[in-house]
Amino acid sequence: MPIQISQLLRRDIAALEPYTPIVPLEVLAERLHMPVEQIIKLDANENPYGPSPRTLAALAAVERDTPHRYAIYPDPDQTRLRAAISRYIGQPPERVICGAGSDELIDLLMRAVLTPGDVLADCPPTFGMYSFDAALYGAQVRAVPRDASFAVDLEGVADAVVHDGAKLLFLASPNNPTGTPLPRVAVERLLELPLVLAVDEAYAEFSGTSVVDMVGAHPNLVVLRTFSKWAGLAGLRVGYAVMHEEMIGYLWKIKQPYNVNVAAEVAAIASLEDVDERMATVARIVAERERLSAALTALPGVHVYPSATNFLLCRMTGGGTARARAIRDRLAQRGILIRYFNRPGLDDCIRISVGRPEQNDVLLAALREFEGMAG
Ligand SMILES: Cc1ncc(COP(=O)(O)O)c(C=O)c1O
Repeated sequence: MPIQISQLLRRDIAALEPYTPIVPLEVLAERLHMPVEQIIKLDANENPYGPSPRTLAALAAVERDTPHRYAIYPDPDQTRLRAAISRYIGQPPERVICGAGSDELIDLLMRAVLTPGDVLADCPPTFGMYSFDAALYGAQVRAVPRDASFAVDLEGVADAVVHDGAKLLFLASPNNPTGTPLPRVAVERLLELPLVLAVDEAYAEFSGTSVVDMVGAHPNLVVLRTFSKWAGLAGLRVGYAVMHEEMIGYLWKIKQPYNVNVAAEVAAIASLEDVDERMATVARIVAERERLSAALTALPGVHVYPSATNFLLCRMTGGGTARARAIRDRLAQRGILIRYFNRPGLDDCIRISVGRPEQNDVLLAALREFEGMAG
């Protein structure tokens, strides 16, 4: 009898829309017949300066100083890394757990909280992984849209908790793709609700704000951080979650033992030993963000939203969806990558990650040329 694979696999997964990740650099370079170094990648909020020099040196030294280090499994308890993070954030290591990027921790937290039929509140427009991952666990997503200025609708969230039983909510602060920070008072109010609140602080180093100091007093608060953005380690995959001792044991039970690899651990620790250099890089990106924002605002029919991150959300107030798509496509043909969102409320928007000044200049020149404006 022929084996029907679809009968053996999960039906709910067959019905899922696949997540559309960005096209890898090498694939794109080949498509455009362009060397990889020429591509200006402003579509994934990565750090345009890469890792710190000290981090690169630490990585280069691994096999030289400790032969076969890469042949040995990493520390499942993440002892040294958690100790270094603990000093950085001023929280005990017992409240810290690390993952292969904060993406893994989002997934772990959902596994710890959600069983099929449970409700996740989601505040769009926001990071797409929250609703995507929830579907994998058979959870229902209760959308509580943000207002016109992208502020969270606190009453709406309370309603989702009280009337629909929502038990988990991820709020990125500052939010991706809108750049909006979540006020501390809003976090305080939300923590009064019977729900697990995960404040995703992927961009905290750019905003200079954090609620990580609140985890000790609030067992229902989880703070997610990553080394992908400020430390420039997106390709090595390392992030962490900070939470009360009451909750963290659940995550330790379900974590894969070797989830943070040796190179990621070395690089993250070295970044934390080089915080001054890293924060100087963050300051350069923030200053460049302001310059880029002013230059984009000067283009006709472009509204640039305020941002506390390393990216800018721009609405095409003239030309709408068609113009936003056309800009994305025309830039891509030249090897300049930005993000377009085919989603309600955002389909006339583009998101631009802040690059190095010379990269942003190439982008701006192309945009001015599209508008028929002199540079
Ligand atoms: C809000 C938010 N959370 C999490 C992530 C994922 O970060 P990581 O690279 O640590 O998985 C991103 C990446 O863009 C993000 O924007």
